[in-house]
Order: sequence, then C-alpha cells, then structure tokens
Amino acid sequence: MRKILLVGNWKMHLNTSQASLLVHRLSERIKIHRDVEVVLAPSMLVLQPLSMQIDRRKFRLAAQNAYYKDEGAFTGEVSFTMLQDLVHYVIIGHSERRHVFGENHRLIRDKVSACVRNGITPILCIGETKDERTAKETSRVLHDQLTSAVSDLTADEVSNMVIAYEPVWAISNGANYATHEIAKPDEVEKAVKVIRHNVYELYGRKASEAVRVLYGGSSNAENARAYLEVPGIDGLLPGGASLNYHEFSTMVDIADKIQSARKDIPDGNE
Ligand code: PGA
Repeated sequence: MRKILLVGNWKMHLNTSQASLLVHRLSERIKIHRDVEVVLAPSMLVLQPLSMQIDRRKFRLAAQNAYYKDEGAFTGEVSFTMLQDLVHYVIIGHSERRHVFGENHRLIRDKVSACVRNGITPILCIGETKDERTAKETSRVLHDQLTSAVSDLTADEVSNMVIAYEPVWAISNGANYATHEIAKPDEVEKAVKVIRHNVYELYGRKASEAVRVLYGGSSNAENARAYLEVPGIDGLLPGGASLNYHEFSTMVDIADKIQSARKDIPDGNE
C-alpha cells in the first residue's frame, strides 16, 4: 500500500530562527507515524540547521529547487550532489519556478535526471494555468509536462518518484487568497487519472500503480480530507497551510486517520 505523503512547501518564508520555532511546534504536535510520511521543504538556507534539529522518525526534508550540474562555475546555484546527505526529496518544476524563473521543459527534465542520478527522489510538479484550463487543455498540458520531464528515466525510476498535480489557478499566493478558485475533488480526480494513464502508456501498469501522486493548491486542514479521499491521491503539497503549525499538524492527523481506515479495507493492494 502506498503511504500518505504530506509535503509542506514553505516557499520563500521564515528565517533560521522562525524555521526552528516552527519545527519545534510541529514536533510537539506531530507524533511518530508509521504510515504517514511528513516532509518539510524549507528554504535552502535553513536545510542544514533543520537537519540537525528534526526528529528523523517524524520528519524528512526536501529542497525546493536545485541545479542540474553537479558542480562548477554556476554562481548562486546549489547542486543535487550537494544536497545528497541532507534531503530525501527535491521539488522540481513548481509553477513558480516555471513562471517566475522561466524554467522550461528541458531544464526541468535535466533537473529530474540529476535528482535521480544523485539518489534523491524528485517531486515533480505539473499543472495547467487558468487560461489553459479555460481552453480545455488540461490533459495536453499534463501530458506534455510529464512526458518531457521523465523522458530520461527508466520505469523503476518513475515508479519511485512523486508527481504533484498543482493547478496553477488554485495555488494561493497571499495576494489572491480571498478571490482565487479552489479545485473541486472531482476535477482533481480527473487530472490524477490522466497522470496515471500517461505513466501507464509510457512505463506500464506497475509504474502507474507505484508512482505516488499528490495534490497541491490551497490545501488546508478544512479540505484535506476531501482531497485525500480522491481515488488515486497519495498525499498533499500545501504551501500557505504548512507555515501554520496548527493547520499542518491537523492535516497530518487527518492523513493518519484516513490511512488507518484504508488499512482496514482489504483491497488486495498490499
Ligand atoms: P498553496 O501552495 O497551498 O499555498 O496554494 C501550494 C504550492 O504552491 O505548492
């Protein structure tokens, strides 16, 4: 059975002492869960101190980005090689990287390959913009973003990765909090089916069943249950909600309850 995975994307928030305080608070509230994997993705700056602070039975770390070359004259960049001992995961292809920093399919593919080459699990974010959704291009966009990103990987490598469906129009950015649209669970379900179907066509049934698929975009304690109950979803990638210890730890509790309920249903999946 695939474990539920919750990844808190802190984006460009929290300095070293604020990050340490948040981990302290989360640690007080989150118990050791065997069946839910809790991952924190803080800024690059605080990965090192947090790696000393976290209880590894409770938390794993992710970086929000890295560069695909292992080393060299690339001012300002940090490589996957440098992150090897520090993180389990790296988020790649987040819509803010694609749209604010102009990352294209090719760069994202190179990052995914470098991530796997360095023994780190990629969390590949894919999702359509508002205009693409209006033009009914969601399936095509997901197909293009996914196939281009994984084109250098083997079926086993794809089986082990994580794909996050993050519709760009549903991501909160602070400014749009009151006005932006929230994805409905049935829309998320459709997208997840498209993603698994694409993996199936490229890499076969085993990979399509093994790959973990997350949802991200304004997920919080209130809607976590509805998203986690979407068939085929293995977890959530909250941004804003992960900065609030009460909200994030409640999401972990919800995930734990759902996972226990799943374990009680014999589905031949184990
Ligand atoms: P949000 O961000 O939960 O604040 O919408 C999600 C993300 O961008 O990963």
